[in-house]
Amino acid sequence: MRCCARNKLGWLLIVLLAACNSEPKIDPASLTERERDGFVGDVRAVLTDDVVLSEENGKWIEAQQASSTTIYDAAGKRTLQTPFRVVMTGGFAITPHELFFDPTAKRSRGNAVTLDNVNKKYTEFDGNGNVLEKGSHDSGKKTLKELSVRYEFDARGNWIKRTLSRLTERNGQKELLPTEISHRQIVYADAIKATFEFEHFSAEVRELKSPVAATVENMEAGRALFLQRCSACHGESGNAQTDFAEAMPTKPADLKSPQVAALTEGEIYTAINDGIKVSGMPGFKNRLSDEAIWKLALYVKKLSREAASNQTTLAKASPTPALPAAKPDAEKRYTLKGKVTKIERELKQVVIEHEEVKGYMEAMTMPFPMTDEKVLGKLNVGDKIEATLVVGIGMWRLENVVIK
Ligand code: HEC
Repeated sequence: MRCCARNKLGWLLIVLLAACNSEPKIDPASLTERERDGFVGDVRAVLTDDVVLSEENGKWIEAQQASSTTIYDAAGKRTLQTPFRVVMTGGFAITPHELFFDPTAKRSRGNAVTLDNVNKKYTEFDGNGNVLEKGSHDSGKKTLKELSVRYEFDARGNWIKRTLSRLTERNGQKELLPTEISHRQIVYADAIKATFEFEHFSAEVRELKSPVAATVENMEAGRALFLQRCSACHGESGNAQTDFAEAMPTKPADLKSPQVAALTEGEIYTAINDGIKVSGMPGFKNRLSDEAIWKLALYVKKLSREAASNQTTLAKASPTPALPAAKPDAEKRYTLKGKVTKIERELKQVVIEHEEVKGYMEAMTMPFPMTDEKVLGKLNVGDKIEATLVVGIGMWRLENVVIK
C-alpha cells in the first residue's frame, strides 16, 4: 500500500513538472552546431570515448571502446566529425552513438520532463538539456525507471564523464546496473600549452618491473589496447599525428622519439596509470585493469625501442642517411552500396541505408559526410548509390559517388 502511494506521488510530481514547463521551446535553428551537440563555451575539439562496462571479479571495468573526434571552428560550426570506431582484430567497425541531449529541452532553471503518451514513455532532463532519466508509465499509475544517467562536469559546465545505468536482469531480478561510460577530453579556444618542468620520476618508479611477461600474446593485447585507447591522440603508429593531437595545445608525445625510448617500463606504466594532468594525457588507473596497463606499457616500450634501434642502424648503414619521409597512417578504401534515406544539406551529410561493407562494417543505416556540393545538389531521397568509402585515422569520406 505504501509502495503504491509513493509511486502515485512520484508520477504526480512528473505530471506537475511537465505542466509547469510552459516556457517557449528553443528553436534548434537558432543554435550553432556546437550548441546543438550540447556544448557550452568556446569548445574547439572533443574526443569522446564510449565504453561498455563488464563485471570482472566483482569490479566494473572498461571493456570494448569506441571513440570519435569532433572539431569546431570559432563560429561553432562542426568542421570534422569522425564516426565512432571500435577496433576489431584486423580492422574497425563503426557503431552508433546515442545522444542523451536535446537542445529544445533546455530550460533556464529546473528539470524538464517530456511525455510520450502514445508509447507511455517519459524522459527527464536537467536544466541544460541533458537526459537524467528515461522510463515508462502505465496509464498514469506506475512509473518504471529504465535508464539513469549521471554526469561529472568540468568548470565550464560541459560533462567530461557520463555513466549510464540500464534496467538489466541479474540473478532473475531486474535492477539498474551501470552498463556504459563515456569520457570526453575537451579542448577550449583559450587552452594554453602546459609549461612545466619535466618531472623526473622517482628512482622507485624507474625501477618498477612489469609483473606481466613480454610474450607475443601480451604484446598483441597491448597493441589492441593501444589502438583503442591511445591512437586518437598518439596515432596508430605512435607518431602523434591526428586531428585531435593537432587541436591540443600541448602535443601528445611522439612515442617513437628518443625521449620516450629513454623511459623505463616503470615510467611508462606510471605515465599511463596516473596521466599527466596539465597537458591532457589522461590517467587510466580507474579505467583499466592493472594488467591491461602493464600490457600497454610493454607495447609502448617495444614501439619506442624499435624506433630508436631502427634509427641507429640506418644512420650507421649510410653516411648520408636517407630516412624515408614520415608516412601518414594509411587510408583504406571500400565499396559502399546503399539507398539514400535522408539528406541533411545544411550539415552536408546524407543518411544511407547501406549493405555490408566487406571487411569493415555490417549493413546499417547511418549518416555519411557529403562535402561535394555538386553531388549533394543532385541527390534525392530514395536514390540508390555506389561510392568509395575512404577511411583513415580520425577521418572518413565518400568519393566517386555514382547515382544508379
Ligand atoms: C587525450 C589525448 C591522449 C590520450 C588518449 C593518450 N595520451 Fe599519452 N600523452 C598525451 C599528451 C598531451 C602527452 C604529453 C605529455 C607532456 O609532454 O606533458 C602524452 C604523453 C604520453 C607519454 C610520455 C610520458 C612522458 O613522461 O614523457 C606516454 C608514454 C603516453 N602518453 C602513452 C599513452 C598511452 C599508452 C595511452 C593510451 C593508454 C595514451 N598515452 C593516451 C595525450 C594523450
